[in-house]
Amino acid sequence: MSFPDLYHHPKEDLVFAQLKLRAPDVVEQIGDLRREHEALAARTRELHAGLKAVFDEAHVPREAFVRWVRAFIDLQERHMQMEETEFFPAALQYLGPDDWRELEAKMTTADDPLFGERVGERFETLRRSILRWQEEHRIQGGH
Ligand SMILES: [Fe+2]
Repeated sequence: MSFPDLYHHPKEDLVFAQLKLRAPDVVEQIGDLRREHEALAARTRELHAGLKAVFDEAHVPREAFVRWVRAFIDLQERHMQMEETEFFPAALQYLGPDDWRELEAKMTTADDPLFGERVGERFETLRRSILRWQEEHRIQGGH
């Protein structure tokens, strides 16, 4: 599973559950965030499998690959749009300081690879790769 599926979405799901306690009718309007996260995870798996096949030099029809990428981007965009215009504002409006304290306590885990006590080796490697790509791009691309 990818970082958002493991760490980011569960946090939003916790906020969503808390919001459901404080403003059930608002949550009703927003829809089922957990189900959307599951759908996103499914699209991510699909894309991951597709990319892996390409890297393994399996024959992947171009249209199929484009379809997976499109489905992933569309869903991701729609999802973020909904969160930014509906979910996050509602959470800010209806959750109080006690709610956020409670949520923070639930969310703090030592194993979170980005914000936890032990920053995972995979992410350290990824960070170094990104910095290297940036460096190479600057050298080749000139900006
Ligand atoms: Fe989300």
